[in-house]
Amino acid sequence: FKVNIDPAAADKGAYPYYMLKEIDEQPAVMRRIQGKYLDNNEPKFDAKLIKQLTDATKLYIVGAGTSYHAGLVGKKLFEKLAKTPTEVVVASEFAYDDPIIEDGAMFIFLSQSGETADSRQVLVRATNEWKVPTLTITNVDNSTLAREADNAVTLEAGPEIAVASTKAYTAQIAVEVLLATAVGRIKDITAAKEIDLNEQFSQTANAMQVVVDEKDQIQKIAEDNLAKTRNAFYIGRGLDYNVALEASLKLKEISYIQAEGFAAGELKHGTIALIEKGTPVIGIITQAATADNTRSNLQEVLSRGANVINIVREGLAKDGDQIIIPSVDEIMMPLVSVVVGQLMAYYATLLRGYNVDQPRNLAKSVTVE
Ligand code: AGP
Repeated sequence: FKVNIDPAAADKGAYPYYMLKEIDEQPAVMRRIQGKYLDNNEPKFDAKLIKQLTDATKLYIVGAGTSYHAGLVGKKLFEKLAKTPTEVVVASEFAYDDPIIEDGAMFIFLSQSGETADSRQVLVRATNEWKVPTLTITNVDNSTLAREADNAVTLEAGPEIAVASTKAYTAQIAVEVLLATAVGRIKDITAAKEIDLNEQFSQTANAMQVVVDEKDQIQKIAEDNLAKTRNAFYIGRGLDYNVALEASLKLKEISYIQAEGFAAGELKHGTIALIEKGTPVIGIITQAATADNTRSNLQEVLSRGANVINIVREGLAKDGDQIIIPSVDEIMMPLVSVVVGQLMAYYATLLRGYNVDQPRNLAKSVTVE
């Protein structure tokens, strides 16, 4: 087991915690990925890898925790940009399932560390039992998963030291956008042909920068709403739901607030019973097609006493929305909205007096099943 860490890159410098440094680095990571994997507005990856991905009639994305959440976004990207049916699976579950793996399947493993035992267990089965092509996308070069798969792509996020994963998540999504576009362009899919990748990556980096520059505002909202609460909810639909899951994992793992992410439309099927006077419910609204529906769901919790906080992209914002984030292409919005969730978790944890970088009971890489 070897970790290549450049001591300068791993130095937290003037930052009080690695997590804050890693959140702040995300615009630079977007630009690094753009520089490495984009050439003349075309994604640039190994030709054999792109051929295998293009030939695949079904993709499986495997991950744990935050990497699983990046896979949920990846499913939507591969289905929209490449029109390849994609299933996302939790590594620890799938490792012992009895799935029917069709001919033409290919497996993608997302792992920051490349050492997660649950994901490796699936990789072993994919290679030995199902005999399908495999790709790992890891942040740590030369990790176990990267060495054992047919193809490996690195995230270029730089060392991630804080236990709570931040820049690896956004880097995973960025690489998924590029891979899905590469495949979609070969398959002649309109959405892939139309997306201006250089423009979107530049705009996304700038939008992330706007969010990290608004830290004080997010700190204030965390102070007013999360410092004393026992529980909290993130809700959204589609890609916003995927981000709700990630934002709530961030919040729970470091601040110990019992935080859950829910599909906004699913609340009324049971979970809304948990809403009490003052329960924080954070709504994420970045997708035009579902914005009104999510707003009605927020109205439902508001009328039951919830303390509603909205994270809305420009263009969909209305009077009274608390956090307005810059607009980029809707498929890139998770890269921007999640930064708000990361900062909310960071400040909630600081205010509650816990160690942001080293939450209790958790390790950076989980090498046991
Ligand atoms: C995220 O903040 C976590 N600490 C955790 O869920 C992590 O994403 C998970 O253990 C997977 O790790 P990996 O990406 O290194 O495989």
